[in-house]
Amino acid sequence: MTLEELGNLIKARRSVRKFEDKPVPEDLLMKAVELATWAPNSGGQQNWRFYIILNKDTIKAIADAVQATADKVAAYPEAERYGEEAARFRRSASFFRSAPAAIAVAVGQYRIATDHILEARAKIDPEAAKIRDWRATSASRIQTAGAATATLLLVLQQMGLGATYMSGPMQAKGHIEKILKVPPEMDLVTFVPVGYPAEAPVKTRKPLSEVCEVIR
Ligand SMILES: Cc1cc2nc3c(=O)[nH]c(=O)nc-3n(C[C@H](O)[C@H](O)[C@H](O)COP(=O)(O)O)c2cc1C
Repeated sequence: MTLEELGNLIKARRSVRKFEDKPVPEDLLMKAVELATWAPNSGGQQNWRFYIILNKDTIKAIADAVQATADKVAAYPEAERYGEEAARFRRSASFFRSAPAAIAVAVGQYRIATDHILEARAKIDPEAAKIRDWRATSASRIQTAGAATATLLLVLQQMGLGATYMSGPMQAKGHIEKILKVPPEMDLVTFVPVGYPAEAPVKTRKPLSEVCEVIR
Protein backbone atom coordinates (compact mmCIF):
# COMPACT_ATOMS: atom_id res chain seq x y z
CA MET A 1 0.00 0.00 0.00
CA THR A 2 1.38 3.41 -0.90
CA LEU A 3 1.29 6.37 1.46
CA GLU A 4 -1.20 7.97 -0.92
CA GLU A 5 -3.51 4.95 -0.71
CA LEU A 6 -3.26 4.95 3.08
CA GLY A 7 -3.95 8.70 3.11
CA ASN A 8 -6.97 8.22 0.88
CA LEU A 9 -8.39 5.59 3.25
CA ILE A 10 -7.83 7.80 6.30
CA LYS A 11 -9.38 10.84 4.62
CA ALA A 12 -12.34 8.91 3.22
CA ARG A 13 -13.40 7.77 6.68
CA ARG A 14 -16.06 10.10 8.03
CA SER A 15 -18.59 9.56 10.80
CA VAL A 16 -21.65 8.00 9.17
CA ARG A 17 -24.93 8.32 11.06
CA LYS A 18 -27.42 7.18 8.43
CA PHE A 19 -27.45 3.61 7.24
CA GLU A 20 -29.08 1.57 4.51
CA ASP A 21 -31.59 -0.97 5.73
CA LYS A 22 -29.31 -3.83 4.72
CA PRO A 23 -27.72 -6.41 6.98
CA VAL A 24 -23.97 -6.41 7.52
CA PRO A 25 -22.36 -9.83 7.09
CA GLU A 26 -21.18 -11.24 10.40
CA ASP A 27 -17.89 -12.46 8.93
CA LEU A 28 -16.98 -8.93 7.83
CA LEU A 29 -17.47 -7.63 11.35
CA MET A 30 -15.55 -10.57 12.81
CA LYS A 31 -12.66 -9.75 10.46
CA ALA A 32 -12.81 -6.06 11.39
CA VAL A 33 -12.61 -6.92 15.08
CA GLU A 34 -9.81 -9.40 14.48
CA LEU A 35 -7.79 -6.62 12.81
CA ALA A 36 -8.70 -4.16 15.58
CA THR A 37 -7.10 -6.53 18.09
CA TRP A 38 -3.78 -5.66 16.43
CA ALA A 39 -4.11 -2.11 17.76
CA PRO A 40 -1.64 -0.95 20.39
CA ASN A 41 -2.91 -1.73 23.89
CA SER A 42 -1.65 -0.79 27.34
CA GLY A 43 0.91 -3.20 28.73
CA GLY A 44 0.28 -5.50 25.78
CA GLN A 45 -2.40 -7.07 27.96
CA GLN A 46 -5.16 -7.14 25.31
CA ASN A 47 -7.52 -6.75 28.19
CA TRP A 48 -10.50 -5.93 26.04
CA ARG A 49 -13.72 -7.43 24.87
CA PHE A 50 -15.57 -6.63 21.66
CA TYR A 51 -19.33 -7.08 21.35
CA ILE A 52 -20.58 -7.50 17.79
CA ILE A 53 -24.28 -6.74 17.93
CA LEU A 54 -26.37 -7.97 15.01
CA ASN A 55 -29.65 -8.24 16.82
CA LYS A 56 -31.88 -5.27 15.96
CA ASP A 57 -33.88 -5.57 19.17
CA THR A 58 -30.68 -5.36 21.19
CA ILE A 59 -29.60 -2.21 19.32
CA LYS A 60 -33.08 -0.76 19.92
CA ALA A 61 -32.90 -1.63 23.62
CA ILE A 62 -29.54 0.16 23.85
CA ALA A 63 -30.96 3.16 21.96
CA ASP A 64 -33.94 3.26 24.35
CA ALA A 65 -31.63 3.22 27.38
CA VAL A 66 -29.44 5.98 25.96
CA GLN A 67 -32.42 8.12 24.94
CA ALA A 68 -34.09 7.69 28.34
CA THR A 69 -30.91 8.90 30.04
CA ALA A 70 -30.45 11.76 27.58
CA ASP A 71 -34.08 12.81 28.16
CA LYS A 72 -33.52 12.72 31.91
CA VAL A 73 -30.37 14.85 31.70
CA ALA A 74 -32.06 17.36 29.37
CA ALA A 75 -34.97 17.68 31.82
CA TYR A 76 -32.78 18.61 34.80
CA PRO A 77 -33.31 22.28 35.73
CA GLU A 78 -29.55 22.75 35.30
CA ALA A 79 -29.99 22.03 31.55
CA GLU A 80 -32.02 25.21 30.98
CA ARG A 81 -29.04 27.52 30.64
CA TYR A 82 -27.58 25.29 27.90
CA GLY A 83 -30.70 25.76 25.73
CA GLU A 84 -30.25 24.64 22.14
CA GLU A 85 -26.93 22.87 22.82
CA ALA A 86 -28.55 20.59 25.41
CA ALA A 87 -31.53 20.02 23.12
CA ARG A 88 -29.20 19.04 20.26
CA PHE A 89 -27.41 16.44 22.37
CA ARG A 90 -30.78 15.09 23.41
CA ARG A 91 -32.04 14.84 19.82
CA SER A 92 -28.95 13.05 18.49
CA ALA A 93 -28.35 10.72 21.46
CA SER A 94 -29.88 7.60 19.91
CA PHE A 95 -29.46 8.27 16.17
CA PHE A 96 -28.12 4.73 15.85
CA ARG A 97 -31.49 3.18 16.70
CA SER A 98 -31.99 1.70 13.23
CA ALA A 99 -28.37 0.77 12.54
CA PRO A 100 -28.18 -2.82 11.28
CA ALA A 101 -25.16 -3.59 13.47
CA ALA A 102 -22.97 -2.18 16.19
CA ILE A 103 -19.72 -2.99 17.92
CA ALA A 104 -19.13 -2.09 21.55
CA VAL A 105 -15.66 -2.10 23.12
CA ALA A 106 -15.07 -2.85 26.79
CA VAL A 107 -11.78 -2.84 28.67
CA GLY A 108 -10.64 -4.31 31.96
CA GLN A 109 -8.67 -2.67 34.74
CA TYR A 110 -5.11 -1.61 33.99
CA ARG A 111 -3.16 -1.01 37.17
CA ILE A 112 0.58 -1.40 37.27
CA ALA A 113 2.90 -1.14 40.30
CA THR A 114 3.23 2.63 39.70
CA ASP A 115 -0.50 3.05 40.29
CA HIS A 116 -0.47 1.11 43.56
CA ILE A 117 2.60 3.02 44.82
CA LEU A 118 1.08 6.40 43.95
CA GLU A 119 -2.30 5.52 45.46
CA ALA A 120 -0.68 4.63 48.78
CA ARG A 121 1.76 7.54 48.76
CA ALA A 122 -0.79 10.17 47.66
CA LYS A 123 -2.50 9.93 51.03
CA ILE A 124 0.45 11.67 52.71
CA ASP A 125 2.38 13.29 49.88
CA PRO A 126 0.83 16.02 47.67
CA GLU A 127 3.50 15.57 45.01
CA ALA A 128 2.61 11.88 44.69
CA ALA A 129 -1.04 12.91 44.41
CA LYS A 130 -0.09 15.26 41.57
CA ILE A 131 1.83 12.52 39.75
CA ARG A 132 -1.18 10.19 40.19
CA ASP A 133 -3.47 12.85 38.74
CA TRP A 134 -1.16 13.38 35.78
CA ARG A 135 -1.28 9.68 35.07
CA ALA A 136 -5.06 9.69 35.43
CA THR A 137 -5.53 12.29 32.67
CA SER A 138 -4.16 9.82 30.16
CA ALA A 139 -5.96 6.73 31.52
CA SER A 140 -4.26 3.85 29.72
CA ARG A 141 -7.27 1.58 29.46
CA ILE A 142 -9.43 4.29 27.93
CA GLN A 143 -6.70 4.91 25.38
CA THR A 144 -6.58 1.20 24.67
CA ALA A 145 -10.28 1.23 23.80
CA GLY A 146 -9.69 4.33 21.67
CA ALA A 147 -6.81 2.76 19.76
CA ALA A 148 -8.89 -0.33 19.04
CA THR A 149 -11.90 1.74 18.02
CA ALA A 150 -9.91 3.99 15.67
CA THR A 151 -8.33 0.94 14.05
CA LEU A 152 -11.74 -0.68 13.72
CA LEU A 153 -13.12 2.40 11.95
CA LEU A 154 -10.40 2.32 9.32
CA VAL A 155 -10.97 -1.35 8.62
CA LEU A 156 -14.73 -0.78 8.33
CA GLN A 157 -14.04 2.07 5.91
CA GLN A 158 -11.90 -0.23 3.77
CA MET A 159 -14.81 -2.71 3.75
CA GLY A 160 -17.19 -0.08 2.39
CA LEU A 161 -19.02 0.18 5.70
CA GLY A 162 -19.97 3.36 7.52
CA ALA A 163 -19.63 3.86 11.27
CA THR A 164 -19.35 6.43 14.04
CA TYR A 165 -17.06 6.45 17.04
CA MET A 166 -19.35 7.09 20.02
CA SER A 167 -18.75 7.73 23.68
CA GLY A 168 -22.09 9.49 24.21
CA PRO A 169 -24.00 6.25 24.87
CA MET A 170 -21.85 5.75 27.97
CA GLN A 171 -24.22 8.07 29.81
CA ALA A 172 -26.29 4.85 29.99
CA LYS A 173 -23.23 2.65 30.58
CA GLY A 174 -24.74 0.55 33.38
CA HIS A 175 -27.89 -0.18 31.38
CA ILE A 176 -25.94 -1.12 28.24
CA GLU A 177 -23.57 -3.36 30.21
CA LYS A 178 -26.60 -5.16 31.59
CA ILE A 179 -28.09 -5.63 28.11
CA LEU A 180 -24.79 -6.95 26.72
CA LYS A 181 -23.96 -8.94 29.88
CA VAL A 182 -20.57 -7.27 30.23
CA PRO A 183 -18.77 -8.89 33.19
CA PRO A 184 -18.40 -6.62 36.25
CA GLU A 185 -14.61 -6.40 35.92
CA MET A 186 -14.93 -4.81 32.47
CA ASP A 187 -16.07 -1.30 31.56
CA LEU A 188 -17.76 -0.39 28.34
CA VAL A 189 -15.96 2.58 26.76
CA THR A 190 -16.98 2.99 23.13
CA PHE A 191 -19.96 2.15 20.96
CA VAL A 192 -19.79 2.02 17.17
CA PRO A 193 -22.96 1.75 15.08
CA VAL A 194 -22.14 0.13 11.73
CA GLY A 195 -23.93 -0.24 8.42
CA TYR A 196 -23.79 0.44 4.72
CA PRO A 197 -23.69 4.24 4.45
CA ALA A 198 -26.80 6.13 3.38
CA GLU A 199 -24.97 9.46 3.49
CA ALA A 200 -21.56 10.74 2.47
CA PRO A 201 -20.60 13.37 5.04
CA VAL A 202 -17.86 15.85 4.21
CA LYS A 203 -15.59 17.21 6.90
CA THR A 204 -12.54 19.41 6.74
CA ARG A 205 -9.59 19.59 9.08
CA LYS A 206 -7.79 22.52 10.68
CA PRO A 207 -4.56 23.37 8.87
CA LEU A 208 -1.49 21.62 10.22
CA SER A 209 0.01 24.98 11.19
CA GLU A 210 -2.80 25.40 13.75
CA VAL A 211 -2.49 22.02 15.41
CA CYS A 212 1.14 20.98 15.04
CA GLU A 213 4.40 22.24 16.46
CA VAL A 214 7.84 20.99 15.61
CA ILE A 215 10.27 21.07 18.53
CA ARG A 216 13.75 21.27 17.01
C1 LIG B 1 -13.91 10.00 21.69
C2 LIG B 1 -14.97 10.31 20.68
C3 LIG B 1 -16.30 10.29 21.06
C4 LIG B 1 -17.31 10.54 20.12
N1 LIG B 1 -18.61 10.45 20.53
C5 LIG B 1 -19.59 10.70 19.65
C6 LIG B 1 -20.95 10.58 20.04
O1 LIG B 1 -21.26 10.25 21.17
N2 LIG B 1 -21.91 10.83 19.11
C7 LIG B 1 -21.60 11.19 17.83
O2 LIG B 1 -22.52 11.40 17.04
N3 LIG B 1 -20.31 11.29 17.40
C8 LIG B 1 -19.30 11.06 18.29
N4 LIG B 1 -17.99 11.12 17.88
C9 LIG B 1 -17.68 11.43 16.46
C10 LIG B 1 -17.18 12.86 16.28
O3 LIG B 1 -18.27 13.75 16.37
C11 LIG B 1 -16.50 12.96 14.90
O4 LIG B 1 -15.42 12.07 14.84
C12 LIG B 1 -15.99 14.37 14.62
O5 LIG B 1 -17.05 15.28 14.51
C13 LIG B 1 -15.15 14.41 13.32
O6 LIG B 1 -15.93 13.96 12.22
P1 LIG B 1 -15.44 12.74 11.30
O7 LIG B 1 -15.37 11.52 12.18
O8 LIG B 1 -16.49 12.63 10.26
O9 LIG B 1 -14.11 13.12 10.76
C14 LIG B 1 -16.97 10.86 18.78
C15 LIG B 1 -15.62 10.85 18.40
C16 LIG B 1 -14.64 10.56 19.33
C17 LIG B 1 -13.20 10.50 18.90
